[in-house]
Amino acid sequence: MNKALIQKVEKSFIEKFNTNPMLVFSPGRINLIGEHTDYNDGFVFPAAIDLGIVAGIQKSDTNTSTAFAIDKKEAIEFSFDTLKPSSEGNWENYVFGVVAEILNRGKVLGNFNIAFSGNIPGGSGMSSSAALENSVVYGLNELFNLGFTKEEMIFISQKAEHNYVGVKCGIMDQYASMFGIENNALLLDCRTIKATPYKIDFKGYELLLINTNVKHKLSDSAYNDRRSACENISELLKIKALRDATEDDLANIKDSVSEENYQKALYVIQENKRAEKASEAITNDDLKSLGALIYASHDGLQNQYKVSCKELDFLVDQTKDNPNILGARMMGGGFGGCTINLIKKEEIADFSSSISEAYKNQFNMDCSIYSVQLSDGTHLINDNK
Ligand code: GLA
Repeated sequence: MNKALIQKVEKSFIEKFNTNPMLVFSPGRINLIGEHTDYNDGFVFPAAIDLGIVAGIQKSDTNTSTAFAIDKKEAIEFSFDTLKPSSEGNWENYVFGVVAEILNRGKVLGNFNIAFSGNIPGGSGMSSSAALENSVVYGLNELFNLGFTKEEMIFISQKAEHNYVGVKCGIMDQYASMFGIENNALLLDCRTIKATPYKIDFKGYELLLINTNVKHKLSDSAYNDRRSACENISELLKIKALRDATEDDLANIKDSVSEENYQKALYVIQENKRAEKASEAITNDDLKSLGALIYASHDGLQNQYKVSCKELDFLVDQTKDNPNILGARMMGGGFGGCTINLIKKEEIADFSSSISEAYKNQFNMDCSIYSVQLSDGTHLINDNK
């Protein structure tokens, strides 16, 4: 599937800039479990997938740089000395943000041209943003020999998102996209930024994604609000992050916080434990327990952390009396995007058609269904410097 994408980016780049690009692939991600735990210094369990962004990039011999979003057919010329965030929601903020963060670190960057396209469905919760940021920083690092490590690069991508896109995201998406390993999910400790890879072979089962095709507008501010609620509670508890709290600690300050925020913090503490337990379940080949943890995660995201939406809840509810589905939950930031389902392989065809029909009847719109492969992280496709 990516072959066509690579050819498209190469061709568009040559047509636009009259030279051959260096090509980078940067993947999107899924997350087995551990949602909204990353910015609480906790555990997450993501994996890079075979869908992503291809960026063509090359030095420019003019005194400006140009970014070309092939699918939007939009190009923007810019100079480093007048760089500032564009209006909220504009795609160029991902590119500008990465450039600004590189310059902030005192590196000498020459002008460049970049063209990109991708096959991650937008707003699906599969992290097209992190894939784009990583493709830009990785490409520039190679092209100008900046000497950044992969770990430095993911923090550049994350800061681009904080400062130019305006989402105070954690590190999960950028980490998974950069460090993904084929056929593995990564149990990442978001405090130490160290991950343990788990080979994922669910035998007769597979991970299936179902996209609600809904992206709620409030998601960015709602995301940032939740992050600050968690930080406020950590401050009250006099700890660095909710990762350090137990349910008992939280119970001790229950009277000083609203019920809503108490439930949110409780969710984070419990979800963090679930992510660790999920790794034990995988080690023990105990898919039933893994499935139960996945359902419990959705329940917390829906009722305690309150980042789900009726379309996601419907998709999860529809799986509950199906004995061939062990677990289902919303995935990513929330308010739309995909559910992730642990489903028996033979059931996929039947379930796909019944859920599509049920979803259409309920919401008068289509859902989309994807099977993804767990894949390697950001890498060069060619070394055309
Ligand atoms: C978004 C953010 C991540 C993470 C998830 C929720 O994808 O970018 O950092 O917080 O939401 O787990």
